[in-house]
Amino acid sequence: MGYSCTPKRYQMDVIRSISSYALIMAFDSHNVDESTATVDIAVPAGIEVQVSITFQQTYRQIISETWLSDDSLNKEEFYASDHLEKSGDSTTPAETIERQLKLRFLYFIEGRQRPIPSEMLEVITESQGADSIALRIVARDESSSGASDIDMFARVTLYDPSSPAVEHGLGGATTSDEETTSNAEEPQDVAPDLSNIQAEIVPGLNKAYQYFIFFRFNKISGFRDTMKSEIIPVISTAKDVFDMLKKKEFPSSGLPNTDWEYVGCSVGFSSIGLSKLGPNDYLYDEAFHRGQKQDAKDLGDKGIESEGEFLPDWEDKYLEEIHGVFQITAHNDSKGKAFVYQLKQAFSYSGGIKTVLSFRTHFRPHPDTRNEHFGFRDGISKPEIEGYTFDDELPIRFPGSPVVDPGCLLMGRKGDLDKDRRPAWAVDGSFFVFRRLRQLVPEFNSFLRENGVKLFPSLTPEDAADKLGARMFGRWKSGTPIVHSPDEDDKSISEDNDKINNFQYPADQEACPFAAHTQKSYPRTNMPGSNDHLFRRASIPYGFELDASEISTSTTQKDRGLLFLCYQSSIERARFKYTQQRFNNPDFPFSPLQSEKPGQKPGYDAVIGSSPRYMTGANPEKPTDKLSIPFRFVEARGGEYFFMPSISTLNKIADE
Ligand code: HEM
Repeated sequence: MGYSCTPKRYQMDVIRSISSYALIMAFDSHNVDESTATVDIAVPAGIEVQVSITFQQTYRQIISETWLSDDSLNKEEFYASDHLEKSGDSTTPAETIERQLKLRFLYFIEGRQRPIPSEMLEVITESQGADSIALRIVARDESSSGASDIDMFARVTLYDPSSPAVEHGLGGATTSDEETTSNAEEPQDVAPDLSNIQAEIVPGLNKAYQYFIFFRFNKISGFRDTMKSEIIPVISTAKDVFDMLKKKEFPSSGLPNTDWEYVGCSVGFSSIGLSKLGPNDYLYDEAFHRGQKQDAKDLGDKGIESEGEFLPDWEDKYLEEIHGVFQITAHNDSKGKAFVYQLKQAFSYSGGIKTVLSFRTHFRPHPDTRNEHFGFRDGISKPEIEGYTFDDELPIRFPGSPVVDPGCLLMGRKGDLDKDRRPAWAVDGSFFVFRRLRQLVPEFNSFLRENGVKLFPSLTPEDAADKLGARMFGRWKSGTPIVHSPDEDDKSISEDNDKINNFQYPADQEACPFAAHTQKSYPRTNMPGSNDHLFRRASIPYGFELDASEISTSTTQKDRGLLFLCYQSSIERARFKYTQQRFNNPDFPFSPLQSEKPGQKPGYDAVIGSSPRYMTGANPEKPTDKLSIPFRFVEARGGEYFFMPSISTLNKIADE
């Protein structure tokens, strides 16, 4: 359905449509294919938009607001309510390009979103002035008939900010990206209770081995009993680990250490799992509630589409319903294995869980212990939080790392973008993202060899391949940032903790391509608001080392990759998913880079973008040249989103 109007002062070509957005719903292990009503509004360049949303019934409803520009996700806001008569407001500043506003209308029931059918939606032009137009989008309860039974509505007002009428009050307040997310005026949080926070969220558990147990509930009462008597007392808390780190007792991640007997343990629940346990208020994160399987297409995973349903090309076990995950970490493998055995035994007595998938992994053997399978040092850059990851007794390991508020990781804390509306039980919890990412290492190496010599003919083939790899990652294999050392891997920098993460990106591609993995993931000062999208990574490799046959044929024959693990207070709106989607957005990072560097559209993330793709800036001497990358080097093979509650909430769950 289309719509257009022509106010006097400017051409405001508003196109609106109500369409069906395919969504796969999972209710009690049945897959129900339904569709969600979506209203699309085209917003011309230079026009500001105000969205206000009103909910009128007692049960929970959701209206999500997504911004698209130039076919790629630009900005995302989100509204939901579980209160009678609650309303929300937002204003987005005018932008210089046409954007698309997508409003989706859903109910939230039993831990899952339920779509409102398109027929239930109605769009009315509420008012139309010289410089503005207001649309009212109404959703009615399926069971209701009359206008008085309207369930929720969104009002979308579009106006021209340059109009004198707007300057005199029509437009309302405008907020910039930075202002929206700033919490400068918020009162400081009270001192954190670190003993109430799972250590895996913050400060993180150093490890040499990691064991995963993905499970479904079998007997909920048995699960609660075992959690209460056996598991909650051994969950690692932030206090335990922070104290050990300060005493310099805890070995760093990587090498096994039989003298270190401590075993870490954490637990998280999927959205379906949480709804079965009890605390099932809406957590204001659409991706989490949808689940990663339903999110896989948005994340750029491979898969097949049939009749509006997307089935990701994942390993079978990850396609099953998963309710939760235990993560166990150790430096001493025997201790770790014994802990896993005892945990499984405890649940076998109570019948609490059924294991969906259980496996063990470890870092790569020496001398590659710090490196992921492409050979690059990982685990360097991470956000630091005063009182949680560093303090006077434990200084920041890599100076230059961003210092952020605790709400980056913890819900309900300063810096959590949805702080004021989190349910009380969610405070000090965090979202955990698990992704099994397969790496095609021989193919990646062969791409570097083939293209390195073409781009850098004056170098030896080996040096040319290394240089291309470094420009695709933003760091040399040792971890040295290429902005510090553009021509060679200067290991004196990577071995210097004061230098390895202490840098900014220049506003051109000479020192570092805009599409290099590290700049795409975290553009630092090249993109305002970069710190609002940070999360804590705790990834670990899995699978086999390369063998001779794979090297000689340049073809992957054995499974290997990265278990990408990260923690954050928001998946959809601000952190993991936002970052992942930028990898496949050729325009990111946008400003001020592009206006200053015409023709240097960054392209896709060179390492983990989907295919076929390109990047600019691979050759510093010809920064507008596009390097074509015909296939993926990284393929998602499974994943899920989990919520990791505080210890007090775990106790409440166990006591139900
Ligand atoms: C197999 C897949 C991946 C590989 C091999 C990989 C590898 C790396 C390496 C080598 C670094 C630099 C070292 C460091 O700063 O720790 C890095 C940084 C980073 N990666 Fe990845 N990564 C992968 C997937 C992802 C994914 C899926 C995301 C997020 C959606 C991500 C986000 C980041 C971030 C945020 C940084 C830090 C950037 C900075 O602060 O400078 N990576 N990655």
